Amino acid sequence: MEKRELLYSGKAKSVYTTDDPDYMVLEFRNDTSAFDGKKVEQLDRKGMVNNKFNAYIMTKLAEAGIPTHFERLLSDTDALVKRLDMIPLECVVRNIAAGSLCRRLGVEEGIDLVPPTFELFLKNDALGDPMVNEYHARSFGWVEDQHLARMKELTFKVNDVLKQIFLEGGLLLVDSKLEFGLFKGEVVLGDEFSPDGCRLWDKDSREKLDKDRFRQGLGGVVEAYEEVGRRIGVTF
Ligand code: C5P
Repeated sequence: MEKRELLYSGKAKSVYTTDDPDYMVLEFRNDTSAFDGKKVEQLDRKGMVNNKFNAYIMTKLAEAGIPTHFERLLSDTDALVKRLDMIPLECVVRNIAAGSLCRRLGVEEGIDLVPPTFELFLKNDALGDPMVNEYHARSFGWVEDQHLARMKELTFKVNDVLKQIFLEGGLLLVDSKLEFGLFKGEVVLGDEFSPDGCRLWDKDSREKLDKDRFRQGLGGVVEAYEEVGRRIGVTF
């Protein structure tokens, strides 16, 4: 499959067309951003680490019966994926309170959420990705009812599968953000799953091993991602 024109360049990944209109190439760059792009740095090796991490997770999810856009690794930093018609919503599932949930509700970080909670955010940089509810999503026509139901079902299934995989590596999956799109009418998991888009804590010490290290200036960002990867069986 040949990498052709640059279609879109996001904050951490670039997307290229291929010679097949149903497929695209995702290039994972070293760029790391937080706070709506207000903090940006280049972190050596991060593109490679996230590409391989994502490939491993997407493969595990596919084995568990979750439809994903991932096809195969093309190089250290490139992956071949299906071209989806993206739904402009972020699905966030939370097992433990952290981040914006704590700020919004004034709750303490670290509280167990039973059952896990689900939130939707509109993908809109100009508005800072506001939280929306399911009626907003349907009333404004951002997603069809049956697709939203499927996104929720898949989000909880992904959470169940990954919670267990991380736990076996001595890690708590605190929360994660998933994006979906349509491929030939079917809801399919898109984007990436890496420590850039989820929170992972060491089970015993509760040390943060995800992008919060970057957001909070704790250092050792890529080293933490590699540590998480090694603990669950990713080879870099
Ligand atoms: O910031 P907040 O607590 O809402 O984030 C919830 C989860 O979603 C975190 O794991 C965060 O890394 C992820 N997220 C993301 N991209 C965004 C917003 C949140 O990956 N634009």
